[in-house]
Amino acid sequence: MIDSHAHLDFPDFDQDRLDVITRAHAAGVHTVINIATDFDSCQRVIALAESNPAMYAVVGVHPHDARHWEGDKSAEHLKRLAAHPKVVGIGEIGLDYFRNHSPRDQQKAAFIGQLAVARELNLPVVIHNRNAFEDIFALLLDQKAYEVGGVMHCFSEGVEEAQKTIDLGFHLSVNGIITFKDSRMATVGEKVRLDRVLLETDCPFLAPHPHRGQRNEPAYVAVVAQKLAELRRCSVDEISQATDANVERLFRLSAS
Ligand code: NI
Repeated sequence: MIDSHAHLDFPDFDQDRLDVITRAHAAGVHTVINIATDFDSCQRVIALAESNPAMYAVVGVHPHDARHWEGDKSAEHLKRLAAHPKVVGIGEIGLDYFRNHSPRDQQKAAFIGQLAVARELNLPVVIHNRNAFEDIFALLLDQKAYEVGGVMHCFSEGVEEAQKTIDLGFHLSVNGIITFKDSRMATVGEKVRLDRVLLETDCPFLAPHPHRGQRNEPAYVAVVAQKLAELRRCSVDEISQATDANVERLFRLSAS
């Protein structure tokens, strides 16, 4: 299976990154996509992808760091980074109205600027949403982001929002939250169209039960697959085959 959203470049993995990668392979995770959060992180995820054939990179500036986005200058910088052959998307980008580490108008400007880059380069987008679904949805529509498609990562909205996301041509990704007690993601995971679902860890964050609260890692995407299989009363193989195919299609992995 594929971990479609990891942050293996984070310092959390500096002591044992190779062990983490070995455990992922042992757990059946054959591919990992590392997602950048700022320009330094872009360099690191590209370096990881260069050093490991089983890794790909997604480059972009997270809404937390949107205050550092400098319009055209940053857009040109991002385009140069995204030209790397192992870069398969733009992200993570979006809006975060929960932490508000950057002012909302700057978050919107960085988001719009990066959606434009994604469309220009014809790359799918990886969207971060926290308490901002309506504004994100409106901007995706307004900026014609459906022309490149993408994924609403760490999906944590309800069934209705899941359907709206799918109707707009987007995918949603499911992570350890689905294993938490009383998670409404269980209902979404049970009902959503499987051909629009990706699996992810978002490691080092959001480790699934029974690892909750510890550092997350790509091997635990197998726990997420297992939970999704239980909810849908199907085999883990069925889940991993379907979600792998979705990731490969969305990020055009075989072609890169
Ligand atoms: Ni993330």
